[in-house]
Amino acid sequence: MKPTGGYFELETSPGKEYHPNLIRLNTGRNCLEYILRIGKYSKVYIPYYTCDVILEPFKKLDINYSFYHIDQQFEPIIDFEMHKDEALLYTNYFGLKGQTVERLAGKNLNLIIDNAQAFFDRPLKGIDTFYSPRKFFGLPDGGYLATTIELKDKLETDRSVDRFSHLLKRIEFGPEEGYQDFLDNDSSLIDQPIKRMSALTNKLLSSIDYKTIAAKRRKNFELLHSQLMKHNEIDINLHPGAVPMVYPFYSSKPGLREYLIQNKIYVATYWSNILDWTKREQWENKLAQNLIPLPIDQRYGNPDMFKIIELIERFD
Ligand SMILES: Cc1ncc(COP(=O)(O)O)c(C=O)c1O
Repeated sequence: MKPTGGYFELETSPGKEYHPNLIRLNTGRNCLEYILRIGKYSKVYIPYYTCDVILEPFKKLDINYSFYHIDQQFEPIIDFEMHKDEALLYTNYFGLKGQTVERLAGKNLNLIIDNAQAFFDRPLKGIDTFYSPRKFFGLPDGGYLATTIELKDKLETDRSVDRFSHLLKRIEFGPEEGYQDFLDNDSSLIDQPIKRMSALTNKLLSSIDYKTIAAKRRKNFELLHSQLMKHNEIDINLHPGAVPMVYPFYSSKPGLREYLIQNKIYVATYWSNILDWTKREQWENKLAQNLIPLPIDQRYGNPDMFKIIELIERFD
């Protein structure tokens, strides 16, 4: 019997998910595990330029992987033979590489697309694709998966209620007070079994104004790009329809990341594991050292972008 009346639940806005037809799971990495469990691939080629949590499912399932390089345009360098039962994992970097995804999908190779950084890009037909929505929105966990074969296993449903403290603390007390909770809650996603997305995360994903958010992200990105392009040491392009995760700013001036953080522009490092995986002179190592992902998300507008531009122009 459906319960009626009594106390209220958290108020959310009624709406629709952006990816209503995808499989809802607990994390992006577990979407990848789901793909690997189907058992089509004996080995997967992974970019050096990625987050180490991507390796979790390979270790869990004892599936072979090896690394490949990307070039200055973030395109994969495929200078190796791929066998019929091997696949290439490609990351849609910063949400800017949709055209590369389309190009790769047209090739005769097994492809897995990591859209953790490209929430708004739709999956291409027949291509295994996964998402990690908390990289774009204030959510505790969650993953979406597009795949052609479904696992028969019965999956437990995740519970997110104990992973909300950083999201709540940031509102009441600011980012500094919630930071340790953010790290702890993120760590709680390590080595989890594949589960269905929690009802709470699913409810929140149904109450987001996707259209407004997509437009804001594009506008902020374009403003930064118009002013920072001349200082940015990599060539980037926002194609029509692409919705970026961040603005990737490459600067070989040492200390810029720390200077921004001192000035309360909180920027991450993508990804410190690469400093161990590669040699100092390799491109991915330089990316890990020098690429600064500037925030352009829905929380911000022109004054915030001008503050970032001014700080970068003042840094020397
Ligand atoms: C590029 C990339 N792919 C995949 C993942 C995994 O997503 P999740 O943390 O939801 O498992 C992450 C980060 O965690 C990531 O940065």
